[in-house]
Amino acid sequence: MKKKAMLSFLLLLTLSLILSACGTSNEKADDKDTGSKETKKTLRVVTDAAYAPFEYMDKGKIVGFDIDLVNAVAKEAGYELKVDHVGWDPIFVEIEGKRADFAVSSITINDERKQSYDFSSAYFLSTNKILVKEGSPIKSAADLKDKVVAVQNGTTGQEAVEGLLGKNNEKIKKFENNNLAIMELNSGGADAVVADNTVVEEYAKNNPNDKLIVIEDADAFDAEFYGLMFPKGSELRDKIDAALKTVLDNGTYTKIYKEWFGTEPDIEKIKAQQ
Ligand code: ARG
Repeated sequence: MKKKAMLSFLLLLTLSLILSACGTSNEKADDKDTGSKETKKTLRVVTDAAYAPFEYMDKGKIVGFDIDLVNAVAKEAGYELKVDHVGWDPIFVEIEGKRADFAVSSITINDERKQSYDFSSAYFLSTNKILVKEGSPIKSAADLKDKVVAVQNGTTGQEAVEGLLGKNNEKIKKFENNNLAIMELNSGGADAVVADNTVVEEYAKNNPNDKLIVIEDADAFDAEFYGLMFPKGSELRDKIDAALKTVLDNGTYTKIYKEWFGTEPDIEKIKAQQ
């Protein structure tokens, strides 16, 4: 009788051990699932994907230096990203309305924008340059006077041209995106485009049939730095900024830069700005 009792006790013990083992392993699996979902929160990023090589559409996908960079930064910070192409002006509306976590779009950090938005540290050095047809009489910024100049609306390029031609000059043609401004130059509707150096240089190089050249005028156009743009008071900014700094320091930025531009970045110059 004692033996029987002992046996059934052992049997019960084994059974309960097996059951509890199953229980824990199930719980563990569940934990893992919810755990990874929790740590990998998805952030919404907005862009104007019409600014190659920084952000543009390629076979229905948003690609570019900026896109690779923010993905590396997000990975470093432990986030997933959903990048939406919304267009240039809507970027500012989305961020102001806090409907997106941040924007990446070759956005120049300047005092005016800083009043309404928060920025990361600088991640790219840029300046405006002039795109013209081969054989154009335009050789400097001063030559843009009395010429028709196409720009992307609401950019530092527009601001720079307004500084040269006057704010309400009708000869400044403003377009929703920079590709439309370049099309206007190609079709003869404008004498020049003013936009970020890398963008106009890449365009001229990749479209030799358009026969365009780029003119530099360092006296007329300031150095500009791009930053990631956040809603004012964003709690995410510091975290993303720390990840951006890591990516600049650990060689990831250099790797992405080389992939897109084929040259070494001047990391020190970018960091000096931070
Ligand atoms: N850097 C310039 C600015 O901030 C032009 C940026 C335009 N970017 C774009 N994705 N279209 O005003």
